[in-house]
Amino acid sequence: MESKDSRKAKIICLSNHKGGVGKTCSTCNIGAGFARAGKKTLLVDLDPQANLSLSLGLTDVEKSIYLVLLGQIPVEEAIYNVTENLDIIPANLDLAGAEIELSSEAGREVILKECLSSIEGEYDYILIDCAPSLGLLTTNALTASNEVYIPLQAQYLSLQGISKLTTIIEKIQRRLNKKLKIGGIFITQYDARKVLNRDIAENIDKYFENIVLKTRIRDNVTLAEAPGKGQDVFRYNPKSYGALDYEALCEELLTK
Ligand SMILES: Nc1ncnc2c1ncn2[C@@H]1O[C@H](COP(=O)(O)OP(=O)(O)O)[C@@H](O)[C@H]1O
Ligand SMILES: [Mg+2]
Repeated sequence: MESKDSRKAKIICLSNHKGGVGKTCSTCNIGAGFARAGKKTLLVDLDPQANLSLSLGLTDVEKSIYLVLLGQIPVEEAIYNVTENLDIIPANLDLAGAEIELSSEAGREVILKECLSSIEGEYDYILIDCAPSLGLLTTNALTASNEVYIPLQAQYLSLQGISKLTTIIEKIQRRLNKKLKIGGIFITQYDARKVLNRDIAENIDKYFENIVLKTRIRDNVTLAEAPGKGQDVFRYNPKSYGALDYEALCEELLTK
């Protein structure tokens, strides 16, 4: 086993200010896929809607990322184990107040980075699920991360607004986090039977040539069902297209 000192987690956030594009589903299942590949992985739910926490069966948690960000509990206390190699720091609705409560703190953009620094030696990967906004919480996620993954649907309006996200990423790179990179853009909820989906996916491949990942996550009902059972897709139905696609995406991410 690697010693604690030699290990330092790669921190990745999943961001897109559009809702419903698959951020939470991807954080959950990429995290579960990494854990199955033997990588010690921590998920961080940074969305006040707490969908990631709920998807993994954590409802109404008392100790959450909110209390950690406010400095009321040490980060270690908010870590819950999900399965082998997979932990989570959950969120709850309290987090909705954090943007305002933290807005006058000195160094408000680096609070999450500071909170994670004492545990990054314990993990290979830390994956942060962002809310569909570009506010202070998302700025904290981008400031704490080495890479950002951007899930996209192959639909007409999905590219609209991406320039807004990339502009913010550039600003964060300039002002707060020089090492931040776009780790990849990938297509979710893909339906090859739809001509529109195919055409737009081709455009996305051309437009983002260097950063688009080759795995496309297909539209698959299993992925929508698993959260209702509080499980990742590998536990819920390991033979589904959803499990196969996220397994392929994880392999691509781990070998790139
Ligand atoms: N590939 C997919 N196939 C089918 N349903 C999906 C897929 N990805 C996500 N979903 C479902 O679509 C909805 C939105 O996905 P979600 O991950 O919550 O998006 P976001 O976090 O970006 O708002 C959820 O109900 C989720 O279960
Ligand atoms: Mg979400």
